[in-house]
Amino acid sequence: MSNPPNIQENIDYTLITEKKLQARIEEIAFQIEAEYKECNDLLMICVLKGGFIFLSDLSRAINKPHHVDFMAVSSYEGKSTESSGVVQIMMDLKQPLEGRHVLIVEDIIDSGRTLSYLRQLLLARKPASLEICTLLTKPSRREVEVDVKYIGFEIPDEFVVGYGLDFDEYYRNLPYIAVLKPEAFAHLNAGE
Ligand code: IMP
Ligand code: MG
Repeated sequence: MSNPPNIQENIDYTLITEKKLQARIEEIAFQIEAEYKECNDLLMICVLKGGFIFLSDLSRAINKPHHVDFMAVSSYEGKSTESSGVVQIMMDLKQPLEGRHVLIVEDIIDSGRTLSYLRQLLLARKPASLEICTLLTKPSRREVEVDVKYIGFEIPDEFVVGYGLDFDEYYRNLPYIAVLKPEAFAHLNAGE
């Protein structure tokens, strides 16, 4: 395991403040409540690990009974900041999806590969409906089109951390979204 980074020193700037994140989550929750008003069987699926903080805040902001379930996928190899294009299921859902109204909750859509794969995989389980909610999206990086119903923020082509998102498994606990200084990635090139 690598040594913990100096978090404050490695942050270049805050891209989205805690206040803005929380305000946007309230808006999305309000929209979900309205659009799933008639639905008695909402199941929110958290894509681990990146989605864990977003799901827990979003779930608490939704004033309507719903279930949550978790799955873990991996689309990166090691410490890379690029999606490998190969998506592996590391942990599957515990609940069946057939006939249920399913909402996938993701941290970020970059190339779109992870979600387009996940969507196909989950559709085969025959849910009554399947929609996607992502906190962040980088439209300029898209390689595969994905139909996303709820989007928190569109962001530029920057590698971001915080609020669930990591670099080398660190920074997930920051309550805001930040961009790292180039030095923070230096050890990648040094071959460590
Ligand atoms: P995609 O398959 O290229 O769309 O990649 C999606 C996954 O890559 C996300 O669920 C994240 O886990 C990860 N990812 C993409 N961009 C970033 C980023 O800027 N910071 C941290 N993780 C990212
Ligand atoms: Mg993710």
